[in-house]
Amino acid sequence: MENFTFYSPTYFAFGKDTENQAGQLVKKFGGTKVLIHYGGGSVIRSGLLDRVKKSLENENIPYIELGGVKPNPRSGLVYEGIELCRKEGVDFILAVGGGSSIDSSKAIAAGVVYDGDFWDFYSGKPIENALPVGTVLTISAAGSEGSPDSVITKEEGMFKRGASGDAIRPKFSILNPALTMTLPAYQTACGVTDIMAHLYERYLTNTKEVEVTDRLIEALLLTMKKEGARAVFEPENYDARANVMWAGMMGHNHSCGVGRSQDWRSHCIEHELSALYDCAHGAGLAIVMPAVFRYSLKHDVMRFAQVAVRVWGCEMNFQDPEKTALEGIDAFQKFLISIGMPSTFADIGAKEEDIPKLVDVLCHGDGRDGTIYGFVDVNEEDCTNIYKMML
Ligand code: NZQ
Ligand code: ZN
Repeated sequence: MENFTFYSPTYFAFGKDTENQAGQLVKKFGGTKVLIHYGGGSVIRSGLLDRVKKSLENENIPYIELGGVKPNPRSGLVYEGIELCRKEGVDFILAVGGGSSIDSSKAIAAGVVYDGDFWDFYSGKPIENALPVGTVLTISAAGSEGSPDSVITKEEGMFKRGASGDAIRPKFSILNPALTMTLPAYQTACGVTDIMAHLYERYLTNTKEVEVTDRLIEALLLTMKKEGARAVFEPENYDARANVMWAGMMGHNHSCGVGRSQDWRSHCIEHELSALYDCAHGAGLAIVMPAVFRYSLKHDVMRFAQVAVRVWGCEMNFQDPEKTALEGIDAFQKFLISIGMPSTFADIGAKEEDIPKLVDVLCHGDGRDGTIYGFVDVNEEDCTNIYKMML
């Protein structure tokens, strides 16, 4: 196991009606003027926004609002939010929504206290300072409620890039599983896929002897296989929603990724798809992961065979472990299709003729050096082959 540091100070309030604690929690973490940042309107329609505002009013905390965050959040609204916070003297950002609203909030929080262009953080500069951020989560997916990460799309050039820093880990996150019951089945399934991707991309490691994190990941994948499917097909099942919600947080707050190398190629390869075609991140991952895994199989057949046996119930073929490994990838893809996820390029509106452009932005956009690093490093030719495997 490699050396690591792990700092995860987020306070979680989990369970029914916890959104009513928003005001008290903002106060606890020192907020005196709040920006409530949210998406396209689901939180208005569900009545959640009103409950959160009431909770702030009960604590006499003034607030302003900025809605309109799009899935795959854009830089334009981040600039707008930074200006607004500076003008209004905001000292706390409260995201109400999914990963997109949370990531946009984190970007604003880092940008307000920075003299330069906030995009510097999305071009590799670590985030060291930010206004405090709190979240009220409405979809189990991105894991941003516990993560030090934020992903934003720069409209100019449509680059989708991530930034990181413990300073943007939420001070608190309110997780009420019942809030996710209004999600359409497709969106729930996209979230299930994203959570499983965060687990798989930590599982694919070149570090030896990391049993504790291997086993944690396997437990969470097994949970997602059962509870993820239940959440899709029984949308009002509180316990399924609750298990998925906590698995999503645990899968991405990094406790499963410490001390081991990781593999974020599927996310990088997917981000270009959701940037160009504006598909849901989870839907993109559903077509990317099986292709990346099959392409990388020979690098470590036994790792793929291990997850096939331990998670997907495949029988180990000791004469031909590659067969077991492939069966595991097939079982994972079948599972994704069974919950309504796409399996080909065409399913998400992607086009073969765009592959050179996708590869160019992926490998060279915003200063990248031509290689995507991970479990196996891949170059332009590899990425072209991987995209072609999704046709
Ligand atoms: O915008 P509204 O109207 O709220 O609708 C949203 C949106 O259309 C809707 N929705 C959310 N909660 C709902 C609901 N509809 C009905 N009822 C509810 N309870 O769902 C749609 C998707 O929302 P979004 O916030 O985009 O979803 P998600 O949480 O999947 O976030 C996706 C973004 O997170 C990034 C992705 O790349 C993508 O941009 N990621 C962020 C990460 C991080 N910060 O650590 C890691 C992830 O790997 C991921 O890359
Ligand atoms: Zn993701």
